[in-house]
Amino acid sequence: MNIRRSYPGIADLEKGAKRCLPRFVWDYLVGGVGSENCIERNRRSLDGILLRPQYICDADIPNLKTNLLGRTYDLPFGVAPVGLSGLIRPHAAEILAQAACSANIPFCLSAFANSSLETIADIAPKHAWFQHYVTNQRDIENDILDRARAAGYDTLVVTVDVPTAGKRERDIRNGLSDPVVLRPTTFLQCLLKPRWAIAMAKAGAPVFANLARYAPPEASPAELEKFFGSLVEGHVTSERLAELRQAWNGKLVVKGVLDTADADLCRQIGADALFLSNHGGRQLDAAPTAADVIGKIRDVAGDGMAIIVDGGVRSGLDVARLLATGAQFVLLGRAFMFGVAALDRSGGHYVIDILRQELRSTLKQIGCRDVADLTGFYQSQ
Ligand SMILES: Cc1cc2nc3c(=O)[nH]c(=O)nc-3n(C[C@H](O)[C@H](O)[C@H](O)COP(=O)(O)O)c2cc1C
Repeated sequence: MNIRRSYPGIADLEKGAKRCLPRFVWDYLVGGVGSENCIERNRRSLDGILLRPQYICDADIPNLKTNLLGRTYDLPFGVAPVGLSGLIRPHAAEILAQAACSANIPFCLSAFANSSLETIADIAPKHAWFQHYVTNQRDIENDILDRARAAGYDTLVVTVDVPTAGKRERDIRNGLSDPVVLRPTTFLQCLLKPRWAIAMAKAGAPVFANLARYAPPEASPAELEKFFGSLVEGHVTSERLAELRQAWNGKLVVKGVLDTADADLCRQIGADALFLSNHGGRQLDAAPTAADVIGKIRDVAGDGMAIIVDGGVRSGLDVARLLATGAQFVLLGRAFMFGVAALDRSGGHYVIDILRQELRSTLKQIGCRDVADLTGFYQSQ
C-alpha cells in the first residue's frame, strides 16, 4: 500500500479509522455532548479564519520551531490528552508518545489513559506532559503528583472543564455511559472488525493505568465506575488551583479556559499557560471555540502566560490558522487517534509528517518566514 496515496490528509485517516474500529469505539472517539453542535462549531470557526498571502517576498524555508514553557519544540503543535486511548488501539499512548518524542514535540498523557505516567516518561523523556483532574481525594492527588515529579515530568496540565460528566448521547445509546452495559450488538461490532478485536484480545481489556492502584480492592465493576467518576466530578475552585500551584514546582497549564474571569484567576494564582479548549465539543454543546475567545483572553493573559489551543484541528493549515489568531501552540486529539487507529505503529509519525508538510506549505504559500509571525497574516473579516 502506498500510504501517501491512500491517506493524503487527516480526513482520509479518519475514514480509515472508521473502517477499522467497532461502531461503539468510533462513536466514543468522534462523539460529542448533546446535539454535537460544538463539534460543528469548532470546524466552522476554523474554516472562517482566513490568511492573507503576501506573494512578493523571500520566505522559502520557513522556521517551524517554537519556544513554549522553557523548551524549544521543532513544531508548534503536540498531542492532546485522550482518555481510554487503549480502546482505540492497545498502547496508543505509547505509540504517540514515541512519535512525539522523535519529532521533538510534546505529548500530553491523560490521567485516564491506559498507559502509566511512568511508562510514558521512559518513552518520551522531556517531551511528556501529564494531564490531571483536580480531586478532593487529597491522598490520591498527592501521590499522583509525587509520582509525576519522580518520573521527571515538568509540565502539569490541570483540566477544569469537567464539573460534571458531559451527556454524550452516542455513548448512552451504545451502553458506554454509567452504568456500562455491554450488549450482544457490542460483541457483534467487535467481530466485524477482526484486526481491532485480535489486537484487543492479545492486549486484554484496557485499564486506567494511572488510577487503578487507588481503586478499592475487590470492587465490583459498578463500584469501580463510581470510584473513577468520583475522581473527576466537581468544580475546581481558585483555592484548589492555588494549592496545586504551590505543590507543583514545574510548569502549570490550566486546560478548558474559555472565559476572561477564569483567565484572570489563573494569572493571579501564577499559572504558566492557559489552554483554551472546549474539550473537543465533549462537555458543553453551547461552548465557544478557542478562536472565538482568544482575543479577549490574550488581553488578560498579557505576556506572562502562554496560550495553547485546541478543538477540531485537522490539518497543518488549521494549525496555522490558530497561530494566526494569537495562539502560541496547538494540540490535536482525534487527528492523532485517527492515525493510530488506521495505521497502528506508524500512525503517529505519519500524522506528524502530514501536519508538518501542510504547515510548511501554508507558510510558503502566504510568504511567512516564521510561525511566530503568523499573526501578521491574519485576515480580519
Ligand atoms: C476520546 C477523547 C477523550 C478525551 N479525554 C480527555 C481527557 O482524559 N482529559 C482531557 O483533558 N481532555 C480529554 N479530551 C479532550 C482533548 O484533550 C482535546 O481537548 C480535544 O480532543 C481537542 O479536540 P480535537 O479532538 O478535535 O482535536 C478527550 C477527547 C477525546 C476525543
